[in-house]
Amino acid sequence: MAENHQKGDSSWFVHDRFGMFIHWGLYALGARHEWLMNNERITVEEYEKRYFKHFDPDLYDPQMWADTAARAGMKYFVITTKHHEGFCLWDSKLTDYKAPNTPAKRDLLRPMVDAFRGQGLRVGLYHSLIDWHHPHYILDPHIGPYRQHADREKLNVGRDQMKYADYLHGQVRELLTEFGKIDIMWFDFSYPKPDGSGKGHADWRSEELLDMIRKLQPQVLLDDRLDLPYGWDIKTPEQVQPRQWVTVDGQRVVWEACQTFSGSWGYHRDESSWRDTDQLLRTLIDCVSKGGNLLLNVGPTGRGEFDARALARLNGMGDWMRRHGRSIYGCTEAPAEFKAPENCRLTWNPEKKRLYVHIFAWPYKHLYLDGNAFVDRVEYAQLLNDASEIKCGIDDWHGKQLGLESGKTLVVNLPQTKPPVDIPVVELFLK
Ligand code: GLC
Repeated sequence: MAENHQKGDSSWFVHDRFGMFIHWGLYALGARHEWLMNNERITVEEYEKRYFKHFDPDLYDPQMWADTAARAGMKYFVITTKHHEGFCLWDSKLTDYKAPNTPAKRDLLRPMVDAFRGQGLRVGLYHSLIDWHHPHYILDPHIGPYRQHADREKLNVGRDQMKYADYLHGQVRELLTEFGKIDIMWFDFSYPKPDGSGKGHADWRSEELLDMIRKLQPQVLLDDRLDLPYGWDIKTPEQVQPRQWVTVDGQRVVWEACQTFSGSWGYHRDESSWRDTDQLLRTLIDCVSKGGNLLLNVGPTGRGEFDARALARLNGMGDWMRRHGRSIYGCTEAPAEFKAPENCRLTWNPEKKRLYVHIFAWPYKHLYLDGNAFVDRVEYAQLLNDASEIKCGIDDWHGKQLGLESGKTLVVNLPQTKPPVDIPVVELFLK
């Protein structure tokens, strides 16, 4: 099969920068990580008996979810249509293991897509390649509830991975033909092993899947987890913070960091490693300062709500984004001639020729912007939160005290007290 190198439309993606990941499935009832089935080796029968039988998100309000995401400043969302557990949020015709057959008694995906699209957010669908429930998914020794099961080989008798691949392709077809325009397809994940075990492109028939996707929705953005060296649009560093613009073969690529508030993608009641709003904003700013996006994850509860911890952080980020969004949207890494001062990150809007200095630690009275690029090109400066003027200049008296080479540093005069925002930003208008 010829390699399909078609690319999706990333023009909106590299502008919008900030998205909401949502991990929601039966694991929300276990409330202790979406890998619960794997981690505790829970059999399919037991998992169904506990969670499929009792999944009843009676407080589910997708409009509220969409409003919360929009208020947080998020411009797209990616929802787990099916996670590794195999449970489907939509009314798939290819399985009974789906939300309409639980006490929820309805398709949970469609109202969510409608609500988020209605709020102007782009639509992304996460779909697990892995499926610990499907009767033809070959159970392997690497991951899944049967990975160390004594009878794993016996359980595999009669299983045909290609029948699972047919199911996978059929469900992707449903998702790409029944929910309108889809902006991102986010597959997760391949784990080929050098000895041929694990699972990779042959187990999913990735080449064929890619062709189908490109035929059905050519604009859709694809992540990089189909185990193909081509056909992807986005690199997806996960739970790490890239140190510079992500490259492949020395070339800068479109990239998106996907991260959680805490230590779990799915709702985890007792997990306490939650980052605070300030840390989360720094993560977003740092991604954009390196030309990337942030996909920040929420794990709703089994009642269908974002929990208080998530809401507090999303609302906190939204407060900052309301005043500072223009230092994120339409921005990217600053040109190399502009060096960020210490404890700061720069973002750059090339259309408007504006630089944004995000100040992570409020300095004593001054920022020093070294280099001719600043000295020659900054024509005006203001605090972004209240548009109050910030005076800059070549301050030789000051410079002499600091041993600054005359005329090489722009001294930015800051108020002594930090402005009342999480991360203050100075907006520099360039000539
Ligand atoms: C990892 C996790 C999976 C999660 C994904 C999100 O693959 O194992 O649970 O959905 O990251 O990127």
